[in-house]
Amino acid sequence: MAQNIISREGENVERNDAVMPTVAIVLSAVMFIILLFLFNSETAPEPVTIDPAITAAAAKEWPVLGKSIFENGVAAVGASACAGCHGLGGQGGVGPKLAGDQNLLQNAVLAHTRVVKGKGAMPAYEGKLKDNEIYAVSNYVINAWGNKATPPLITPAVIAAAASTISPEVLKNRSRLVPEEIKLPEITLVTFILLCLTYGLIGLYSVWAEGEQLHPGIHKTRSTPVAMLAMVSTLIGVMFFGVLFARQILVDLAGWSADPIVKPDVTAEGFYAAMVVILLGVAAGLYKKYFMDSEVVIEDSSGEFPW
Ligand code: HEC
Repeated sequence: MAQNIISREGENVERNDAVMPTVAIVLSAVMFIILLFLFNSETAPEPVTIDPAITAAAAKEWPVLGKSIFENGVAAVGASACAGCHGLGGQGGVGPKLAGDQNLLQNAVLAHTRVVKGKGAMPAYEGKLKDNEIYAVSNYVINAWGNKATPPLITPAVIAAAASTISPEVLKNRSRLVPEEIKLPEITLVTFILLCLTYGLIGLYSVWAEGEQLHPGIHKTRSTPVAMLAMVSTLIGVMFFGVLFARQILVDLAGWSADPIVKPDVTAEGFYAAMVVILLGVAAGLYKKYFMDSEVVIEDSSGEFPW
């Protein structure tokens, strides 16, 4: 199909793909908003009603009711026995050892969270056990087998307080940009958004670099002083944000090993890294448009790409 290009040399061709990049970018913006909703509803702490009856029961019920649920489960509602996985003495099995488990003893609320939500191989008990039963069995595991946890008793007030302060441990994990509870719909959406954005940005770039009208054939490019200035300032920008990024990482790493942990500034990390990547992209674009000879090829009338 090469003769096709030759025959069109010098002729200008209206491009019909110029709107697609904008469509892709608007689409990704819409999906991004959906994603924010999905993600926020998932990570927003559920409101906790502080019921005095449940609070009173939490202190009293664990030694008997809690022990019984741990050891036998509640067959009638399909709640399997914790002991089946964690062992009668909390010594562990399929599930981790709970007797003397430092994770648990330093953060007793973990027991309640795991029982309510489950994790990995551990089933969620929300909807099977009643509220007071969940408190009973959670308090059992933080008090049985000589366990001494902080706080020593899980009550609705404790859960409400924990919901409003995210622990540094959790932040430490989140700061690695993989939220613990991330689910398939979010992963799919993020991938799709990134695809659309990439497609849109490349498209916008090519409309900018090649114009609304295509001039097929070889293009000799000449750099202009403005392009040169833009190139130099972009590269300075890359270095500037690169240094800021490296500095931020050092600060955050130091905070991570400090005691108590200083929460890392993930937003700054992400912003600096994004600026470096974006500016590098801009530099590559400027280079292609103003400093590199190129050839514009167009589809021929049959729609086949003219290889
Ligand atoms: C089918 C097996 C199974 C059953 C039944 C089960 N668990 Fe678990 N449990 C696990 C597994 C596996 C983990 C580790 C989850 C992870 O971190 O990936 C776990 C984690 C935990 C943790 C957190 C431990 C830590 O250090 O991270 C607690 C607390 C816990 N379970 C308590 C309970 C209680 C209380 C019950 C009963 C109401 C129960 N489990 C029932 C398998 C089970």
